[in-house]
Amino acid sequence: MVDSPSSIEQAFQAIDSQGRRVRPGCVLIDPDRIDRRINDLAAQIAETYTGQGQDELVIVAIMTGAMVFLADLVRAIRRPIRMGIMIVTNYPGVATKAVGPQLDYDLRIDITDKHVLVIDDILDTGGTLAKVTERIRSRSPRSVRTCVLLEKDIPDPRAIEADFVGFRVPNEFVIGYGLDYDGLFRNYPGIAVLESAEHEG
Ligand code: IMP
Ligand code: MG
Repeated sequence: MVDSPSSIEQAFQAIDSQGRRVRPGCVLIDPDRIDRRINDLAAQIAETYTGQGQDELVIVAIMTGAMVFLADLVRAIRRPIRMGIMIVTNYPGVATKAVGPQLDYDLRIDITDKHVLVIDDILDTGGTLAKVTERIRSRSPRSVRTCVLLEKDIPDPRAIEADFVGFRVPNEFVIGYGLDYDGLFRNYPGIAVLESAEHEG
């Protein structure tokens, strides 16, 4: 899909750190759909933990990609929660091929005997969530579940499946709503396929 030059996607056009012109291309999910789906997910999550009394729920977000999703999701969950973060890097700089998850900042809050819900922006091979949940499990939580906004439609089996999934997307490099390319596009409000000058005709 080619957007008209006046479209919102045009406003996000940028130059990456290797001098290539990049922008959001084909729009997969618009902000209204994200908003509606987040309300469903939040209701599902609150329901899942109902009846588990006053047991504490700790939401652990995988930064930096989950930042925008986290902010919207937690404000739609109608129950008490605590929040913590871990920083995991998978695509340094202009990479659009993963180098494998690297832990840059570990969780600093106590999760012993607590319900933990790990939140990430997108599930691809599952390497990130597998690594993070293994680390969390070693700290004796009461339960560990996972929630991702997006799940990539990949041909191979993944290391881990998520308990809550917002949308399935094609097996392409996507950006927006927290997901970046070269640190760019996290503030684009929808989800789009990355378009770069090399791919243009
Ligand atoms: P996995 O470890 O292969 O499941 O990849 C998931 C992690 O890689 C997520 O935390 C994202 O930060 C990042 N990631 C995977 N696919 C994309 C993408 O298409 N765009 C941006 N980031 C991605
Ligand atoms: Mg990530």
